[in-house]
Amino acid sequence: VHEPHFQDSLSSLLVDSESLQKQIDELSTFSDTPAPSVTRILYSEKDVLARRFIKNLMGLSGLSVREDAVGNIFGRWDGYEPELAPVSTGSHIDAIPYSGKYDGVVGVLGAIEAINVLKRHGFKPKRSLEVIMFTSEEPTRFGISCLGSRLLAGSGELAELLKRTVDNQNISFLDAARFAGYANHLEDLTSVFLKKGSYSAFIELHIEQGPILEEEATSIGVVTAIAAPASIKVDFEGNGGHAGAVLMPMRNDAGLAAAELALAVEKFVLESGSIDTVGTVGILELHPGAINSIPSKSHLEIDTRDIDEERRNVVIEKIHQSALSIAKNRGVKLSEFKIVNQDPPALAEDLITKATESACQELNLTYKKMISRAYHDSLFMARISPMGMIFIPCYKGYSHKPEEFAAIEDIANGVQVLALTLSKLSLS
Ligand code: GLV
Ligand code: MN
Ligand code: MN
Ligand code: MN
Repeated sequence: VHEPHFQDSLSSLLVDSESLQKQIDELSTFSDTPAPSVTRILYSEKDVLARRFIKNLMGLSGLSVREDAVGNIFGRWDGYEPELAPVSTGSHIDAIPYSGKYDGVVGVLGAIEAINVLKRHGFKPKRSLEVIMFTSEEPTRFGISCLGSRLLAGSGELAELLKRTVDNQNISFLDAARFAGYANHLEDLTSVFLKKGSYSAFIELHIEQGPILEEEATSIGVVTAIAAPASIKVDFEGNGGHAGAVLMPMRNDAGLAAAELALAVEKFVLESGSIDTVGTVGILELHPGAINSIPSKSHLEIDTRDIDEERRNVVIEKIHQSALSIAKNRGVKLSEFKIVNQDPPALAEDLITKATESACQELNLTYKKMISRAYHDSLFMARISPMGMIFIPCYKGYSHKPEEFAAIEDIANGVQVLALTLSKLSLS
C-alpha cells in the first residue's frame, strides 16, 4: 500500500520556533517563585492557570480536549482510521520548587507544535494522534511521582491510596483535586485507568537533564531504557530537650540519627561499585528546629535509582537495616520507614526507537542511543503501550534548578524528530 507522499518532503518540516519560545516563556510566568526559577505545584492556582493555557493551545491546534478525573489532559487529532489505537505523545508541566522552565514543558508544548507542524504540512494521520499532559509527574505535593501516568497505567494501589493521601498542610488529595475542578463527586479514581493496548505507541520528548548530548554536540538522544526509581520516607523520634542542660550521655538526638542515615545512604550507594547507582537525601527536617533544642523528631526523604533493579533493591535493604541499627544504637524510635515507591526500570520498544532513528537520519540530525537516568511518565506508559523517548541537549545538563536551559534550535530539532516519528507511527 502506498501512503500519502508525505515522507518525501520532510526535511521542510517547519517549526514555528518564535511562537514556541513565546509559549515556553509565558508558561514559565505561572509560577509561585520569581523568575528565572519556576515553582508550579499540583492543583495550585498557578497550576490551574497553566492547565487553562495548555487546553487553550490544544484547542487552537484543532485538537479535541478531554480531561480525566485527576486532570490528565488529552488532545486528540482524529485519524482517517479512527478505530485503530492512536499514537500518543506528551509530558508534564508541573515544576518542583525553584526549578526551571523546560523540564516536561518541552514535551507538552513541543508535542502541540509537532501537531501544528504536521497540520501545516498537510499530513493526514491514519491512526489518531493524541497529546497528553500528565498530572503531577513530580512528587512535590503528595509525595507520589508520576501520579497521573501511574494511575493511567492502572495502579489499583494508587487509586486506593489517593483516597487517604494528604499534603503537608493536611489538605486531602481529593479536596485539592476538587479545588482544581477535578474528581467531582468521585472517590473512585479507577475511571482514570487505561487498558493495555489503548495506544499503539507512546513517545515523550524531554530535555536530557544530563550533559552528554551537549558535550558530544549530538542533536538527539534516542532513549533505550529508563532507570528504576525508588523513594523512602523515614522518621526518627527521641526525647529532645534543652541544648545546654541535657548532658551528652543522656541524649537520644533524632537529628543525629537522621544525619547518620544520610551519610549511610551515600556509603551504600558508593558500595554498589557502579556509577549507575545514585542516592539522594533531598529532604531532611528537624523538629522543633530551634538552635537551643535537641531535635526530638527528624524526617528524611530518600531517593535512590539504578538502571539495575536488583542492585537498587540491595541499597534499599541496606538503608532499612541501617535505619534499624541507628535507632537501636542511639536509643531513638524509628517511627516510620516507608518505601513510597520501588519501581522497575522500563525498556523502550524497538519499533519506536527505530522510527526515531530513521527520523533523525532523514532530517540529517546526529543522534545517539542512551539511557534516561531521570524518570518520566514514559516509565508508566510503558506498562500499557510500546514506549519511546526523544532527548534534546540542555545547557551543562542542568535541571531541577533555575539555570536549566535548552536552546530553541535544539528544541526545534526535537519537535521535528517528534513530528516525523509520530507521522511514521501513525501510518504504521
Ligand atoms: C523527575 O523529575 C525525576 O526526578 O527524575
Ligand atoms: Mn523533573
Ligand atoms: Mn520531567
Ligand atoms: Mn523527570
